[in-house]
Amino acid sequence: MEITQDHNRRVWDERARHGLLHTRTARDDEFADPLKAINGRGWIDGGLEDKRVLCLAGGGGLQAPLYAAAGAKVTVVDISPAMLEQDKRVARERGLELQTIAASMDDLPMLADASFDLVTQPVSTCYVPSLAKVYDGIARVLRVGGQYLSQHKQPLNLQAAPTPFPNGYAVTEGYYATGPVPPLHGEFEHREKGALEFVHRWEELVGGLCRAGFVIEDVAEPRHGDPAAEPGTFRHRSQYIPPYVAIKARRVATPVLGQAAAAGIVMP
Ligand SMILES: C[S@@+](CC[C@H](N)C(=O)[O-])C[C@H]1O[C@@H](n2cnc3c(N)ncnc32)[C@H](O)[C@@H]1O
Repeated sequence: MEITQDHNRRVWDERARHGLLHTRTARDDEFADPLKAINGRGWIDGGLEDKRVLCLAGGGGLQAPLYAAAGAKVTVVDISPAMLEQDKRVARERGLELQTIAASMDDLPMLADASFDLVTQPVSTCYVPSLAKVYDGIARVLRVGGQYLSQHKQPLNLQAAPTPFPNGYAVTEGYYATGPVPPLHGEFEHREKGALEFVHRWEELVGGLCRAGFVIEDVAEPRHGDPAAEPGTFRHRSQYIPPYVAIKARRVATPVLGQAAAAGIVMP
């Protein structure tokens, strides 16, 4: 586990230093209306004024400064000090306050129970082997009624070949693997070169949330495909394989499975 985290920390530090994909900071036009910029799906309850927000694995100077600009009290946890440096720099430049913590998303003992109203997590759970550990930690630090808004790589995105053959995309990696998917040779937009990434099954992504004490209120598959895209590009591949899934979840006092048991419903 430590080895995975150290490895991915180095990968993300390097990506931040070289300004690679997914390391950009927030732009002026986004700061002009920060709530609009971060609430494209309209999933955030009401406004953000004084809400306690955790940006989990959300370093890089994009999400966290926008949440702070929208009035939230922001803590950003990320494994990469270089990504967190970008948050600090943007916050300094914009006169915003935020707390940064270098830690892994699956080990959050420094955060108090029920200390957040909203946890937001950009695509990142692929970097840890156990999704259940991440969900349990979030359930602990989120107050009952609080929101968990997340985005994840779909399992098939990590299972399928990067390039088409002959005209579709073959599934080349198993669904039940416990280790990381093999590295790819070359630059591909659906993977971060050199990072150790894990397939999380749907029963873990969705069922795991219910088991951890959340109800799912909505699910979205952001469109990245373009029918006119060149074969082998991210946009072409995304016509066949939706790369990401976004999930709107809420922390409940009694997990759904518990409610079912209380109502005498036998779950299969
Ligand atoms: C795709 S980026 C998301 C944030 C970025 N601002 C964006 O919107 O694209 C993934 C983030 O996950 C972080 N990360 C990777 N492994 C992590 C771990 N085990 N715990 C916490 N953060 C992790 C990386 O450092 C990186 O900042």
